[in-house]
Order: sequence, then structure tokens, then C-alpha cells
Amino acid sequence: MNYISIQNIDSLEKWVKQALKIKKKPLKNKKLGKNKTLGMLFFNSSLRTRLSTQKAALNLGMNIMVMNFTSEGWTLEFEDGAVMNSGASEHIKEAAEVVSQYCDIIAIRAFAGLIDKEKDNAETVLSGFLKYATVPIVNMESATRHPLQSLADAITMAEHKTAHRPKVVLTWAPHPKALPQAVANSFVEMMQLQEADFVITHPEGYELNPEITKGSKIEYDQDKAFENADFIYAKNWSNYKEYGQITNSDPNWTVTAEKMKMTNNAKFMHCLPVRRNVIVTDEVLDSENSIVIEQANNRTYAAQLVLQKILENGK
Ligand code: CP
Repeated sequence: MNYISIQNIDSLEKWVKQALKIKKKPLKNKKLGKNKTLGMLFFNSSLRTRLSTQKAALNLGMNIMVMNFTSEGWTLEFEDGAVMNSGASEHIKEAAEVVSQYCDIIAIRAFAGLIDKEKDNAETVLSGFLKYATVPIVNMESATRHPLQSLADAITMAEHKTAHRPKVVLTWAPHPKALPQAVANSFVEMMQLQEADFVITHPEGYELNPEITKGSKIEYDQDKAFENADFIYAKNWSNYKEYGQITNSDPNWTVTAEKMKMTNNAKFMHCLPVRRNVIVTDEVLDSENSIVIEQANNRTYAAQLVLQKILENGK
């Protein structure tokens, strides 16, 4: 079993219930991972993913090996048949097979480069490991998806929702750097698996990949989208059509206390790290309605559930 996207799970409702059970007794399966090793390969920076996934593995009694691939590993070649007479020192074929001998599960973080849309959509790094590794793979945020985050988001929303069909708004917000679409994509895919009045709001031109948003409702008027919302999930992403570009940095899209007043006393969510007073004001982030710290806490239980399922099911 691999965990590449939230669509790899059979029932979101069941998984959320199981994760909440793990949260109550996180050390219950401390023996399950005995003598098993999780290898965590990072091609990009991390705080939450790295520590929460390690914590999850420790809760299961696993051994953990972490490698910051870009600073510590050989530069990898991903193209089959490549004549490797320039930058790359090692082919993914050997690298993935070798790492598979040391680890029982390989977890990988490899963001979008935001230069070549086709290459990012092909998930070059993740696909390379999926092709050549001989052990299960966990996606710790790839070019197009962040399914450990969206599972943690689903757990957090389940803990806070009061209506059977809450209104959930994914809002774009400005950011000074070009960011990938992975978190937003996975949030959309997770919302498509549950009962909700789900609305995506962003400036015109900032549409996410239509193969992911499918029929999800898009509202270009942020104020209108916020009306009666139960959850506001803020995230920046760079332009998908003008791939990887920042074509809008309008501060009017920042989530403010005034905008939150239009909602149904909504909870504020963000995957973190967050740029204060750019994505969201201090007032909102520090308010009682902000559940971002709980979201980050639930990353552990999301990761623990995924690792537990893999350990129980094997390949
Ligand atoms: N939300 C998230 O994935 O955080 P990190 O990038 O710090 O891991």
C-alpha cells in the first residue's frame, strides 16, 4: 500500500474516526513498528511534516532515518536512458532500490519546481521512487498533492464541525513568493469526499487544475464566499494557467477580522507556515477561532494512521 493522495483511502469517514481513536491512545500500537524502519527523504524544507511524521513513527515503535537529499544526497537523474555526462551523479533506479533495502517504508517530500508544468504534473521525483522502490511510499508533499495535510485537516474539521453539512471555504490569499498548488489541491480532493457546502474563492485567473477541482463551486467574490461560512481555510498558490507566476498580490484578499465577521463564527484554518499580516492578520490568527495549532497537532495522528495501515497491510 502506498499513500500518494487522499484518494488512496477507502473511506474518509472511517479513517477520521480511526485517527481520532489513535489520538486518544497514541501509544496503543507501540509494538507494531518494532524492528521496522521509516526512511524520510526531504528534497525541500519542513517543520511540521518532518517532526509529526517522526513522532508518529516513534509512537508506533519504528526506527527512523532522515536524509535531506538536496544538501546531503547525490544529485539524481530521473530520465530512463539518460546519458549521465552532466550534473546528476546517481540514477533514481539505483537510489530507490538501495534505499528500499534499508527501509520498510519510504516517505518523500519533493515540491513542484513551478517552472515546467508538465514535469510537475508528472511528479518526477515521487513517480521515480514509485517506479523503482520495492517498499511502500508515503507522500510528504509532492509537486501536486499534500495528502498527510489534508487528512489532518479532515480530522480537525471533524472535531470542530457542528453542522452535518458545514459551509467550508477555501480562500486564496496573497503571498510574496510563488507557492505550489499541492495543499489547495489536496484540500479540494478531501472536501470532495465529504458532505459540505464547499466553495473555493480566488481572484479570476487563479483557477486550480480543473482535473482536480472538477465540479467544485468557485466564487470570485471573497466577501460573498465568506457569508455564513463555518470554516475558512486560507492558502496561497501561484497561478496555474500562467504556470508558477504571481499575477496578483492584492492585499484585499488577506483574511481579516472584518471578513471573519461575515461568517457563521467560522473557524480559521491554515496548514502553516503562515505569513502573518499577509495571508491573515494577527487578530484572526491569534483569535479563539483559529485552530491552526490543533491542525498541526493532528498531523501526527494522520501520519500515524497512514503508517499503521501500511504496517498492518504490508505492500
Ligand atoms: N504544513 C506543512 O506541511 O508544514 P511543513 O512544511 O513545515 O512540513
